[in-house]
Amino acid sequence: MQKLKDIFDNLWRQYTHENPEALQIYNLLNNHNEIVINDHIAFRTFDDKRVNVDKLGRFFEKLGYKCCGEYEFTQKKLFAKHYEHTQDAKQPKIFISELQTAKFSPFLQQTVKKCVDNISQHLLNSVELLYSGACFGELDYDVYNKLLIESEYAAWMYAFGYRANHFTVFVNELNKFNSVQSVNALLKQNNFTLNTAGGEIKGTPDEYLEQSSTMAGKVMIKFKQGTFEVLNSYYEFAKRYLDKSGKLYQGFIAKSADKIFESTNIIVK
Ligand code: NI
Repeated sequence: MQKLKDIFDNLWRQYTHENPEALQIYNLLNNHNEIVINDHIAFRTFDDKRVNVDKLGRFFEKLGYKCCGEYEFTQKKLFAKHYEHTQDAKQPKIFISELQTAKFSPFLQQTVKKCVDNISQHLLNSVELLYSGACFGELDYDVYNKLLIESEYAAWMYAFGYRANHFTVFVNELNKFNSVQSVNALLKQNNFTLNTAGGEIKGTPDEYLEQSSTMAGKVMIKFKQGTFEVLNSYYEFAKRYLDKSGKLYQGFIAKSADKIFESTNIIVK
């Protein structure tokens, strides 16, 4: 378990370095005597088989994780899987999504291929890939902006690469703030901005999962043309409810504007 802890520590250090708000919120909860447990850690990638969901998932499978659900996000053109630890339920779930590049322009496809071509073979075979950042060589601000027009996800991957996209506080494990409503109220009292798109709370107890998140912060990124401010990521909060079988729901809800896709039911336990 030490190796897993080292990976999560590296990811957390990198994430909070880039998202100082997340660390402030983590400390705020600590100051209220809360012990923060992670519900899940989310990763993004491309569907190139050198780096796709299955490839990244294998790093976690070797560390005791198992795939327990698959998701399709049609509007954003993503496919995702979630992994759970087989021995220790307190370990965060791992959520990995990949961009379905074939559904985008030749420009995006070529850019992604070039990016992946630039990742060293050593890194591709190492768990360090998970926190290697934008390991694609020099970044071009024009390419970033062109990707942004097609897909926020592709542009984010281009600028930030391999790292935790977000950590998620498991609200059930908090004592005083054990509802998403009370966490949101605490954040607002302390001048953090919540993402209100689709309402402050996404999901309902009937769907067994409620989530909220902060707004993505901005960071300065070095491109070949200079240093520019780009949107980074957010901190998430999740509360889970008992499902029909009386077990705490462990899946995710993939929602797009016009459709709800539940897990495609690969629940292997
Ligand atoms: Ni999430």
